[in-house]
Amino acid sequence: MITKADYETLRKILLENSGHALGVDKEYLVDRRLGPVATSLGLENVAQLVNLLRISADRRIIKLVCAAMTTNESLFFRDHRPFQLLRNQLLPELMERRRDTRRIRIWSAAASTGQEAYSIAITVAEMPRLADWTVEIVGTDYSPEVVERAKQGIFNHFEVQRGLPVTHLVKYFRQVDEGFQINDRLRQSVTFREGNLLEDFQHLGPFDLVFCRNVLIYFGPDGRRDVLNRLSRVLTDDGYLFLGSSETALGLTERFSSIPGMATTLFQKTAAAHARTPRADAAKEPRAGLSIRAS
Ligand SMILES: C[S@@+](CC[C@H](N)C(=O)[O-])C[C@H]1O[C@@H](n2cnc3c(N)ncnc32)[C@H](O)[C@@H]1O
Repeated sequence: MITKADYETLRKILLENSGHALGVDKEYLVDRRLGPVATSLGLENVAQLVNLLRISADRRIIKLVCAAMTTNESLFFRDHRPFQLLRNQLLPELMERRRDTRRIRIWSAAASTGQEAYSIAITVAEMPRLADWTVEIVGTDYSPEVVERAKQGIFNHFEVQRGLPVTHLVKYFRQVDEGFQINDRLRQSVTFREGNLLEDFQHLGPFDLVFCRNVLIYFGPDGRRDVLNRLSRVLTDDGYLFLGSSETALGLTERFSSIPGMATTLFQKTAAAHARTPRADAAKEPRAGLSIRAS
């Protein structure tokens, strides 16, 4: 086990570099996740790794450490409801509102190994009316390793059994040695890249839909507020933000309001946030016509 002082050093490094607010009693997690990092660097234990961080502040090692501490759990069509809403209400309404540009942009902001972004891509592919539209899907994640995996689009037997309907597996994947790979068309419809939510992401936007799910749960209140406020600036004024099922923007920022009765964590920008959107082309359009039905 590492000492209290080493633990505090790591907590500070994580908070500053990836936003993670590590609880006060997660020493076991640190040992389990950083042990292999220490070994890979030729060190004997996590205490030596912390010492190295204290004296060198090497960006590469900090990245390795923070990425190793992330939880990358993901699955296809996670929570179902967001994807039903996407297909039945949000995309049809956006099609109506974007009929001049025929362009929709969607961001999976903590994409992990890609299941969320590919679930969006499959949802889009299942809507023939979108066939001649430009639907851009961007997936970003802090961890370079999961971004590489997402780009490959290869999932093992266990992963494809988690949330992916068999009909979609047959239709959109092909068998490869390691499991199943999503077909080239869908793989090319998503752009994956590294992206730290703590850093400026303004240049990626604007987006009509942002999925930022199951990541802010690891942040402290200040980090959550900061990310949410900056997300409000890349979201079009009539866009939507999905958070994870145990996450909320309420009580953290006045820039988002929830849509009650949705059985999912869906948010829209408040009027207070509109003026702060620098590039929202939709801001010029009337908001009438958006009629989300509560379930
Ligand atoms: C639990 S996964 C969620 C994946 C997906 N959004 C879902 O709901 O299934 C959380 C992801 O957030 C990423 N992450 C953690 N901190 C981040 C940060 N500061 N910036 C971007 N991504 C981050 C992790 O690398 C991890 O892949």
